[in-house]
Amino acid sequence: MTQMFHNFTLQLLDWYDQNKRDLPWRSDDPNPYHVWLSEIMLQQTTVTAVKTYFLKFLDHYPTVQDLAQADEDTIMADWAGLGYYSRARNLHKASKIIASNGFPSDLTELAGVGRYTAAAINTIAFNKPAVVVDGNIERVMARVFKVEEPLPKAKPYLYELATPFFMEAHQNRSGDLAQAFMDLGSSICLPKNPKCDMCPINEFCKAQSDEYPKRAKKANKPQRTATCFWIENEAGEVLFEKRPPKGLLGGTIGLPCTDLTTGAMPDLMIDSGDTIGEVRHIFTHFALTMTIQKASVKGAIPSNCFWQKPENASGLSSLFRKVCLF
Ligand code: ADE
Repeated sequence: MTQMFHNFTLQLLDWYDQNKRDLPWRSDDPNPYHVWLSEIMLQQTTVTAVKTYFLKFLDHYPTVQDLAQADEDTIMADWAGLGYYSRARNLHKASKIIASNGFPSDLTELAGVGRYTAAAINTIAFNKPAVVVDGNIERVMARVFKVEEPLPKAKPYLYELATPFFMEAHQNRSGDLAQAFMDLGSSICLPKNPKCDMCPINEFCKAQSDEYPKRAKKANKPQRTATCFWIENEAGEVLFEKRPPKGLLGGTIGLPCTDLTTGAMPDLMIDSGDTIGEVRHIFTHFALTMTIQKASVKGAIPSNCFWQKPENASGLSSLFRKVCLF
């Protein structure tokens, strides 16, 4: 068995050396700031979506000190469109700690860094041995060992199965091993139609099929509806609102709208007019149908609202980008 772990990791690392993706945060001499920033952005977000944001952040905030000193609203505007906005607030909070004290030895002390992200940063940035198990590695393990237990229940077992590979990663290459698994998962061991004939570790794989991992049947997402108000002034500007810092789409710019959770009317006196459109957006825990209604404002404009041409709006979440493009 030990020989199997040895050969498996050797073949996977050889394959990685020949085929690794060229990603902007990867380097033979990794910069911990780059690795941390990329890992926060990559939480629940695809590599393709992250690349441009990562480069923009390095351009706007070349060092962690620049990020720590930046204004939170500017960071939120730069983050807009990437989703899960609490990550941007946590990023700012953590940057202040890193800028003054360096990275703590327990990385989970940093806001936004959990067990997985801490392990990824420790191995990739600091070359410390750690077990890094993301969705890709779970999928590879479920196939290699033909695990019948469905996800998500199988997660702890898949973590256990992955552990000896990281223990075996020779020449202190656990960071490379984690990234090799990620690249294998994104180019060969694909969720659907894996390319098993091209796989460097196919001889060790019991399943060689996308029938694994087994998944518990997902309940359909709850459906919610909301209404946003398209309010124009004579100058052709539209009334936007900055959403409160906490909660759904916290800190992003949108149109005044009914509460996305409770359906309560916005804190604004309006006369509503014709319905002019509808957009749909999928959040993690629900699907939203947003009706766009023309309206006019009565009385004072709350302090979190402002007029702007939609084409000049920055800091919009993806939901309100869709609304503005409608
Ligand atoms: N997903 C999470 N971290 C990653 C990384 N460092 N490289 C590629 N994909 C990832």
